[in-house]
Parts: sequence; C-alpha cells; structure tokens
Amino acid sequence: MATPILKWAGGKRQLLDELYARFPASYDPGTNAYHEPFLGSGALFFDHEPRRGTVNDRNARLHNFYVQVRDRPDELIERCRALAPPERDPDPDGEFARTDRKGRSVDAYYYQQRALFNRRPNGEPFDDLAEAARLLYLNRTGFNGLYRENADGEFNVPIGRYADPDWVRAEQVREASRVLRRLPDDALRQGEYDYVADAVEPGDLVYFDPPYEPMSPTADFAEYSAGGFDREDQLALVDLAVDLAARGVHVVCSNSGVTYDTYADAGLFVDHVAATRAINSDADARGEVNEVIATSVPPDERRGTDQRSLSAFE
Ligand SMILES: C[S@@+](CC[C@H](N)C(=O)[O-])C[C@H]1O[C@@H](n2cnc3c(N)ncnc32)[C@H](O)[C@@H]1O
Repeated sequence: MATPILKWAGGKRQLLDELYARFPASYDPGTNAYHEPFLGSGALFFDHEPRRGTVNDRNARLHNFYVQVRDRPDELIERCRALAPPERDPDPDGEFARTDRKGRSVDAYYYQQRALFNRRPNGEPFDDLAEAARLLYLNRTGFNGLYRENADGEFNVPIGRYADPDWVRAEQVREASRVLRRLPDDALRQGEYDYVADAVEPGDLVYFDPPYEPMSPTADFAEYSAGGFDREDQLALVDLAVDLAARGVHVVCSNSGVTYDTYADAGLFVDHVAATRAINSDADARGEVNEVIATSVPPDERRGTDQRSLSAFE
C-alpha cells in the first residue's frame, strides 16, 4: 500500500475506501488486470499495487517522471537532493540565472528551475532524469502543488510558501518504484485514455478519473494541462465506460457532482460522495467537494467495505 509521491489536483486519497467498496467481489488481482487511464498522482493505483494491467496519463512530463521513478529511483533521489531551497538566489553558473526566455527577471532558485523544466515544450534538448527531478521539486515547492501549463505547454505555477518543503520524498519514491516495477515495462503509457478499449479483457477493472467537469462556469478543474477535457470528451468517456461494461469489463468512474445524471442516464450505478480537497486555487472554495462515483457493478455484486485491498494480504 504505497502512497502518491506528488500532490495532484483531484488526488483520490480521501476516496479510497469508497472506491474499493465498489470493486466487484469477483475481481481477483491475481488473475484480472487493473487499468487506470487518467493516472495523475495515482492514489488508487499506488495503494492497490496491481500486478497486471496498465496506467496512463496524457501528460508527457508526468509519464517521464514515472518512468524515471520506476527505472532510476536512487539517481532521481540524488538529483533532487542536489537542488536548493526555492527562495535561494539562482545558481549563478546555471542557465536562466538572471532572466527567463521571455526576458523576465529570475530572482529565485525556484524560477530558474521552472525555466529549466520548460526545455521540452520549447523544443530544446532536455535530460529525462533532470526533468523528472524538477517536476518533483516544482510540485513540492510551487503554489498549492498545482500543475498548470500555459497555452504553449509551459509550466507556469508561481513559487509557494512552505516552511520546510520536502522535495526529495526518498521513501515515497522507492516505494512507488517498487509498485511500478510489479507491472511489465510497457504497462506505463503516455497518451489518450481510450487506448484502454484495446487493452482490456472481460473481468478486468478500469478506474476512470478524468479531469472533472466544472461545477460552475468559472471553475477550472479541467485545465490540468494544455488541452483540457470538455463536455464532448466527458460524453465520449461515458460511452466508452458503457461499451466496456457491455464487454464484461468492470468500470468505476469518479467525477464532479454535476455529472450525476449523465452517468445515471447511461445506466451506471451512481452515488454522491463528499471529499475534502486539499488542492483548490480558490482558498475560499476549499473544503467539502460534491463528487460522484459511478460504476457498472451492481450493489449486490460488490466487494463492499470489509476487504479494502486484497494486495495487502498477498
Ligand atoms: C483527475 S486527474 C487524476 C487524479 C488521480 N486519480 C489522482 O489520484 O491523482 C486527471 C489526469 O488525467 C490526465 N488527462 C487529461 N486528459 C486526458 C486524456 N484525454 N487522456 C489521458 N489522460 C488525460 C491529466 O493529465 C491528469 O493527470
């Protein structure tokens, strides 16, 4: 039962029990595969520790991060240890010590690392391990742990204010590495979620945790990375979930409260659940968030709350 390394919008640690309770009793992690096509910080995946299946995210830098965690955990930890506190002066010998690409002044180490992290979207050569170390560093020292990109794909979150941020996370990195290595190498994917239609077999379980449909027109939950996920995408996802269920694949989906009717009308079993969100760009809106969990698993075929994670007993 590993824990996420990253803070991520929509992180699911608070909902783990609610999610496991909707797993089918017939699902056997020794035989059936688990798929998580919108991985993010992977709260359910890292807790569940499956041996079969796939995990995926569209975000290429997040994908590279997990590849480095899996394949080079100790080197990644060393790289992170070599980074300085965010409010320090920039490293005078490094690139972007005074100004960034747009000529804006760089007055803190954090902003120098942010400029260096943005090599890939600027078409500049980059080092996979250095990029992964910077992703973790910026995630732990940036404002609210947000991951946000501008229209050019540049990460643009400002510096956060933390008394003593831990951007190394050595223990979590090693544990996450162990969990990722339980799966075959090609199980860690980068791309669109709909690959899963070709990856599943009857009896498998798919957990869909897409960017949430906004509760109000001003909410920006969908804007995790350039591109977003609009209403049409939400509807296509529900269609896929229903198709998979018809093929004997079990699906569990989470989303914001406004999607209740969409999932119910599609024939899935839907419940409102309340989660406390640690990440919200609007501090006043922090607190209980109304979300739904939809599943193809009828109530009397569920594992229920007595068996949380079978993998814990292996
Ligand atoms: C709600 S977050 C997942 C949160 C995750 N369950 C957790 O515990 O942190 C959604 C993720 O989906 C990814 N994403 C957005 N659109 C996607 C798409 N079309 N295909 C695959 N992944 C996508 C985003 O990069 C983001 O990491």
